Amino acid sequence: MISLSTTAPGADRLANAAFTIVADSPAFHIATEDLHALVFGPGRFARTAYRVRGRQGHERSLSLAAFADGRLIASVWQTYVHVGAMPAILLGPLAVHPDFAGKGYGQALLASALTSARTTPAEAVILIGDAPYYARAGFRPLGHQRIGWPGPVDPARVLAVELVSGAVDRLAGPIRVALLPPGDEAPDH
Ligand SMILES: CC(C)(COP(=O)(O)OP(=O)(O)OC[C@H]1O[C@@H](n2cnc3c(N)ncnc32)[C@H](O)[C@@H]1OP(=O)(O)O)[C@@H](O)C(=O)NCCC(=O)NCCS
Repeated sequence: MISLSTTAPGADRLANAAFTIVADSPAFHIATEDLHALVFGPGRFARTAYRVRGRQGHERSLSLAAFADGRLIASVWQTYVHVGAMPAILLGPLAVHPDFAGKGYGQALLASALTSARTTPAEAVILIGDAPYYARAGFRPLGHQRIGWPGPVDPARVLAVELVSGAVDRLAGPIRVALLPPGDEAPDH
């Protein structure tokens, strides 16, 4: 179980909730898919970020589920990627059940996801999403399109937060799933 930082954005609104954040688990798969279907609908499979993850899927050790009163009510996934040669993390989807919206759960999950990301060799966390929402967690638009995506993206929705100073300025090249955590990959022969 991951304890919530009281300085996390929205933590003040969580004070009275029976809310826990835990690492993702295969046991949560059906409940998470149900949540994704509810908030994103069938169009989620056509999203460009979904295409990046492809069959490889997300990295469970960096992905989180949130429970309130024993029910899965929110989830965030993260996936190891490379952008060009840079190890990075693709964050998403982030989903909060509509019944629990506006209580700070989304921002709490984002803060915990970034805490996990900082334990890895990834140099930046990237996502495709609404800039005003993610700005609260430190994400900024890249400004111009330097990442090669496997489908259409709105450049204004490509956001990143750097884990290593200057990394965002160096984000360029095709994005592809990294099969192993950055740093654990076998050298090329
Ligand atoms: C977007 C989402 C993750 C927000 O989760 P949440 O737990 O309701 O958000 P929080 O409680 O942490 O934050 C609420 C604040 O964010 C704002 N907000 C919510 N969605 C926003 C958006 N798309 N753009 C800008 N601000 C947004 C709210 O107005 C609220 O503002 P306030 O604090 O000034 O009242 C959730 O509504 C959701 O799952 N939506 C559908 C899926 C989605 O769009 N996911 C993100 C893209 S991958």
